[in-house]
Amino acid sequence: MPLIRRLPETLVNRIAAGEVVERPASALKELVENAIDAGASRIAVRLANGGLDLIEVTDDGCGMAPDEIALALERHATSKLPDEAIEQVTTLGFRGEALPSIASVARLTIESRPAGADGWMRSVDHGAVVAEGPAALPPGTRIRVEDLFGRVPARRKFLRSARSEYAACQDVVRRLAMARPDVGFTLEHDGRRVLAVQGGDGLARRVAALVARELADEGVAIEAERGFAKLTGVAGLPTFNRGVADHQYLFVNGRPVKDRLLIGAVRGAYADMLARDRHAVLALFLEVPPEEVDVNVHPAKTEVRFRDPAFVRGFIVSGLRHALDGAAQRSAQPVASGAMANWQAEPIMLTPQPSLGALFAREYAPAPQRVSEAGRLWRGYEQAVMAPAARAEEAVPLAEGAADFPLGVARGQVAQTYIVAEAADGLVIVDQHAAHERLVLERLKAAGAGATAATAQALLIPEVVELEESDCDRLEEAAPRLVDHGLALERFGPDAMLVRAVPAPLAGGDIKALVRDVADDLAANGDALLLGERLDHVLATMACHGSVRAGRALSVAEMNALLREMERTPRSGQCNHGRPTWVKLAHADIEKLFGRK
Ligand SMILES: Nc1ncnc2c1ncn2[C@@H]1O[C@H](COP(=O)(O)OP(=O)(O)OP(=O)(O)O)[C@@H](O)[C@H]1O
Ligand SMILES: [Mg+2]
Repeated sequence: MPLIRRLPETLVNRIAAGEVVERPASALKELVENAIDAGASRIAVRLANGGLDLIEVTDDGCGMAPDEIALALERHATSKLPDEAIEQVTTLGFRGEALPSIASVARLTIESRPAGADGWMRSVDHGAVVAEGPAALPPGTRIRVEDLFGRVPARRKFLRSARSEYAACQDVVRRLAMARPDVGFTLEHDGRRVLAVQGGDGLARRVAALVARELADEGVAIEAERGFAKLTGVAGLPTFNRGVADHQYLFVNGRPVKDRLLIGAVRGAYADMLARDRHAVLALFLEVPPEEVDVNVHPAKTEVRFRDPAFVRGFIVSGLRHALDGAAQRSAQPVASGAMANWQAEPIMLTPQPSLGALFAREYAPAPQRVSEAGRLWRGYEQAVMAPAARAEEAVPLAEGAADFPLGVARGQVAQTYIVAEAADGLVIVDQHAAHERLVLERLKAAGAGATAATAQALLIPEVVELEESDCDRLEEAAPRLVDHGLALERFGPDAMLVRAVPAPLAGGDIKALVRDVADDLAANGDALLLGERLDHVLATMACHGSVRAGRALSVAEMNALLREMERTPRSGQCNHGRPTWVKLAHADIEKLFGRK
């Protein structure tokens, strides 16, 4: 018979610490959350060596009396649960285990003073009280954690470099500071002030200060409400994307979370506006009644569980999309300052066009390599004259009504890739392929949402496309939905599909490649995406096939038609991969280029 016995309290705390205190950043998170719960209006954080040597959090909150300090260090002692109703909790903490857990794996010192009383301190070293007595400090609390895991080598071993522990600490402060724009925060690392934000900033300013200043210009405000749920925040335009998802700050009822459902919803909202390896930048605050969400499902409380996940997901996707659609007419991106600098630095001669005299002089020069070089130059010159890369229409006054077109009137085409247009307030350059791809996608989506048959172009002779059996299975399963978008597929034996119709905008394209790409898309996204998003992906793939390639000459009428359609079409400001489809050089920018301003 095994002998069952109760574990000593120090061991229980250390086991809990294994879950709550993973690394300096998690201890810091608990301390800052406690300061917020204590009603602090200013929170100062000091770290040494990435938090490995010292984490200190000072607040001007309610403070603790001496007996409360002792209780706070006891397990399952909390002041925060009203009448045992854990569902109704509105504080960040509620378990009463953070401080005893940290105190079991470090040296922890609490100094605290309630308003109108004297200060007191207590110091605990790996679970044992080592000092206690009066303390001098302003009203509030200062908690110091030194030498984390100093005597728990098994844990210390898993810590990463001070640098990456410091980065994780910074992230914690940033997230909590974002959750509470009303509170002032400072962060000091190894004696250097690295962050300072004032209380009362307001959400937008706080987010811009903590994430990226550019968000003020390249973000849209989110403000949505549905039923019991409310969503606010700032979302970056798709063109303002990053290679990592670190800059997605998500909050549920003021609590920073890294919840998979929410992360998935964000990905879904941006699905057809960003390449798969690019990530949106945003700060989103979801508010729901406490009974709609269980915050007690993760030791560090960074994941939550919703009573109705599908509702929450749908709400976030549509809230984000709505806001981003509203921004469709905004310039996706002002001409990047770097690019502007290039304009300025460009030599005046745009193409190598040596004078004929110089060429002939070289042609007859004795050195053989000169001859071949001259030949090369000559051919280049000839090409430049015979087949100009740029075409322009005759300059005519800005047409009547041009002022009404935000993207202006087409003036010409450059490198058979870019449309140059004149708008009332500047010069517009459009990437014709990116823009057209976007338009085809939106057309396909619109067709899918409305009447269907009209969008399909039946093939006179159905085309057989051979594929892997698993791809055929997936296509067969998706066929009823694909047909709504004009792609009519049937199973044709174990490893082939029969294509009977293709979406009208794609007629005449490479059908085999289209079907293969759709199959790849279905395979890559599997069931990870909701039906609608999966279709968006597939449609984006199809759109790419049907688009005007870069390198095709367009007539002025075609160019203008493209511009007008872009103006009519939602989300036309960025291509399906999150790059801008057009940029505008304002008159003021042009004047700057010529030093007129
Ligand atoms: N900075 C502080 N100012 C005032 N009181 C504090 C402070 N930090 C902790 N306390 C008190 O100590 C108690 C225990 O803190 P602890 O973090 O261990 O648990 P908790 O916050 O209640 O729950 P959780 O374990 O979920 O964080 C708190 O309930 C609070 O009353
Ligand atoms: Mg706590």
